[in-house]
Amino acid sequence: MACLVVVGSQWGDEGKGKIVDLLTERMDGIVRFQGGNNAGHTLVVNGEKFILHLIPSGILHPGKVCYIGNGVVVDPKVLLTEMDGFMARGIDINPERLRISDRAHVILPTHIAIDKAREKALGDAAIGTTGRGIGPCYEDKAARVGIRMIDLLDATTLRAKLEKAFVEKNVLLESMYGEDAISPAKVYEEYVLYGRRLAPYISDVPLELHEALSAGHNLLFEGAQAVHLDIDHGTYPYVTSSNPHAGAASVGAGLPPRCFSQVIGLVKAYTSRVGEGPFICELHDEVGHFLREKGFEYGSTTGRPRRTGWLDGVSVRHSVRLSGITSLAITKLDVLTGLKVVKMCVGYELPDGHKLNALPTSLDIQARCKPIYQEFEGWQEDLSEVKRYEDLPANCRRYLEAIAAYVGAPLGLISVSPERNATIVLGNYC
Ligand code: GDP
Ligand code: IMO
Ligand code: MG
Repeated sequence: MACLVVVGSQWGDEGKGKIVDLLTERMDGIVRFQGGNNAGHTLVVNGEKFILHLIPSGILHPGKVCYIGNGVVVDPKVLLTEMDGFMARGIDINPERLRISDRAHVILPTHIAIDKAREKALGDAAIGTTGRGIGPCYEDKAARVGIRMIDLLDATTLRAKLEKAFVEKNVLLESMYGEDAISPAKVYEEYVLYGRRLAPYISDVPLELHEALSAGHNLLFEGAQAVHLDIDHGTYPYVTSSNPHAGAASVGAGLPPRCFSQVIGLVKAYTSRVGEGPFICELHDEVGHFLREKGFEYGSTTGRPRRTGWLDGVSVRHSVRLSGITSLAITKLDVLTGLKVVKMCVGYELPDGHKLNALPTSLDIQARCKPIYQEFEGWQEDLSEVKRYEDLPANCRRYLEAIAAYVGAPLGLISVSPERNATIVLGNYC
């Protein structure tokens, strides 16, 4: 029995989906525990590409059970579209293989409308959200007025709750943002049907996970977003509304902290960020352009170009400490091939010469930080066919070893192309 957590250590899009898909072979169940369809996790298997927003990235492996935990916010329309899309591609999705927590909160059209209207009203100060209603749904959860998956199964309760909730939301939409009101009756008609279709999948997920562990099963917990987008620990307010921290796996799946044995921290070999917010190592030059184009850094969810920069070792080290990362999965190393010099940020410098070796909480101070870089000689060799660590170019290994030493966690996995099997496995993952 093992419980492994996979988390992003930067600002998302590190390649969590690929690594979860790869490790699924050794697992019995895969669990999403936070976030919603703001996530976009890409898998590439034999040249075929799959993008997942809500279904855990283990779904391509027949016989493995995928769970959507209580900490996730579920847009049932998106989930059903995703399920239908995968079924149309021959992936078997049935209630034996996909379990959805009855306690997970439901994203409603009002959440999406408020998310978009708020961003529009913020203008230049917008967060750059994915516009999927994630923040407003978590707000309702915290305000104790949310609708949960279990409510979709009881038509009378659903209608009453929608009618009550929409009074306040429609005042906000119409009076505050000048948007159209949304009819609770129409949403009821739509959502009651989603409930009927999803009913066989909705279950008491914590109970099932406890049973799986008692039976000696191995479980993998798939984080979405990343530690620096965490509502508590990230670059607030330019964050998401959940906790992508490894600790959230316990609460968001319903298992005690003592179950978790390993935390795999995903580290892209450079940095990307989509949406607004501070980004100390951001590059606006030809190297930034090179990373975006060669790394195909365009959002899997919204298609937006991602901002790019050198690896920020300081922020990754912070994530290693916060989430207790026990090993690193370094991805997209191949993207750096061809650069003469590769850099990692190992500190920040303020205009007065003061040096910092940790990410400051104040965004004003972050805005004044300049990165201090350690430089490495680049490599020119194609990495995509490399299967063994010792076959990587020496300069590449020096860079990897410097990352591990600086952030304080050992190398576990090294990914050299989007393909599932283009990964060097150094760690022991049951
Ligand atoms: P996630 O949100 O963390 O799952 O990451 P995304 O799927 O949003 O973005 C990662 C992108 O990088 C996807 O397009 C992956 O197919 C791709 N990718 C993952 N690992 C590698 C790698 O080692 N090399 C290259 N070139 N691409 C990779
Ligand atoms: P994966 O799981 C990268 C960013 C958005 C925005 C901020 C808040 O694919 O790594 P939200 O819609 O969550 O309220 O937006 O968070 N964001 C992500 N950035 N990868 C993601 O997920 C993200 N999910 C949200 O761009 O800046
Ligand atoms: Mg992504």
